[in-house]
Amino acid sequence: MNLYLNGEYLPLEQGRISVEDRGFQFGDGVYEVVRVYGGKPFRLAKHLQRLEQSVKGIEIPIPEPLPKMEEVCRTLIKGLEEAQIYLQVTRGAAPRVHAFPKEIRPTLVAYARAVTPHAPDRVFNLKTVTDDRWGRCHLKTICLLPNILGKQKAVEAGCDEGLFVRDNGIVTEGTSSNAFFVRGGALFTHPADNRILNGVTREAVLELARQQGIRMRHQAVTLVEAMASEEAFVTGTLSEIMPAVSIDGKPVGSGKTGPVTKKLRAAFRELTAKECV
Ligand code: PDD
Repeated sequence: MNLYLNGEYLPLEQGRISVEDRGFQFGDGVYEVVRVYGGKPFRLAKHLQRLEQSVKGIEIPIPEPLPKMEEVCRTLIKGLEEAQIYLQVTRGAAPRVHAFPKEIRPTLVAYARAVTPHAPDRVFNLKTVTDDRWGRCHLKTICLLPNILGKQKAVEAGCDEGLFVRDNGIVTEGTSSNAFFVRGGALFTHPADNRILNGVTREAVLELARQQGIRMRHQAVTLVEAMASEEAFVTGTLSEIMPAVSIDGKPVGSGKTGPVTKKLRAAFRELTAKECV
């Protein structure tokens, strides 16, 4: 039973959702992805808090109290070691009208799947894509068209991740990750405002940087600055800390994993081992 759907545990393939679910028809919903290391979820409480902020941000009532959702997550991962949990809340199913229907109950879906950990020497090549997303990227909504189109462009260019760049030349984040750049030995990342999703991994990296005495700047960089940086990396629940060794085919710094990235990557491994295993 690796699926939880509106109060019931089922095998994943038996899950059924109405064709009138507003997640399906309007993208009217929010989600979370949680990584499980050695059978324990990494920073589950942070993910659930962000899910709560996201549902509030689009005015969906919370379908279950957070402790219940935590219990559901822990039940779903039983027997799994390296895994991911996907949680989604939509406004629910009702005859199709744009405004919020009165009699509607949110749909809650959660399921777990095994994942294969990244090879320790894995690196990403980035492809820039236009950031034409809406102004509320701090909410983790399921409206991911710009993200999936951006990722697809990156993949078609032989790259691993799309790097969102706004019309004004500012780099915001990756299509499913946050972006960091080392410049003059200091770590730059876009401030946690409405233009990016404030990643749980991003927050962990900021903690680690503080502990390691790495100078931090919560300051956006332009693409020109990003391409001239000494090192770059992206962070996310699934990408963890991933060195970004090129942008649009041009090497970043040495074109290899840099020392700051290496240090943080090792510290992040230790952190997940400490908190989860
Ligand atoms: N996405 N920015 C965007 C746009 C993202 O989609 C994600 C993660 C992040 C990183 O957030 P976190 O560190 O909390 O995972 C930043 C998930 C993993 C996904 O869509 O699969």
